[in-house]
Amino acid sequence: MKCIKPLFAIGLFGLAAGFGLTSANAQNTHADHAAIGVHGPSPQVIRGLYLVKISGCNDCHTPGYAESGGNTPQAAWLTGSAVGFQGPWGTTYPTNLRLSMLRLSEAQWLQSARQPMRPPMPWFALRDMSDDDLRAVYAAVRFLGTAGEAAPTFVPPGQTPKGQFIDFVPHSASAVYSAK
Ligand code: HEC
Repeated sequence: MKCIKPLFAIGLFGLAAGFGLTSANAQNTHADHAAIGVHGPSPQVIRGLYLVKISGCNDCHTPGYAESGGNTPQAAWLTGSAVGFQGPWGTTYPTNLRLSMLRLSEAQWLQSARQPMRPPMPWFALRDMSDDDLRAVYAAVRFLGTAGEAAPTFVPPGQTPKGQFIDFVPHSASAVYSAK
């Protein structure tokens, strides 16, 4: 047994390095250290980071993520975006989850994550996640820790947003090109 333990520790350390956690570690809040443990992130955190990555949360909630080909450092993950999405619902901004989710307890997160949200948030993806997966996403955000500024606040329909926004309604080619 005595020989196995150090090997196990090296394995975990390798895993942490593979996830690029050395830079993210510097940003963790005190509360997050319980999830990290001595040798690296817990299996739950690793699963949560994986879920965040493959379920597309970064596509909207991380600035420049798609443009970077998915290579944005973890330190900037889920810090929200100042580019809005405009449609009949008004203009919505992908929330800084590193602030908003960290204000919730795990129980509050499980409850609020399943409620309908305004477009284009795919809230039904969260509704349909298992409790374990939702908990893992929460643990991952706790692990990443507090970072960034709050995204701009929602602008109601009919009001003009100040900054950039994406026109998120379908257009037919005839309507767009006949004006030219
Ligand atoms: C297509 C873009 C898009 C994707 C993909 C996306 N979101 Fe969102 N999300 C948004 C927008 C925009 C809002 C703000 C909605 C509003 O203001 O009502 C939002 C809001 C939220 C909120 C509510 C935040 C709060 O504090 O009120 C949570 C939680 C959330 N998203 C989590 C996620 C997670 C987790 C994923 C990955 C499974 C994800 N989002 C994927 C665009 C997106």
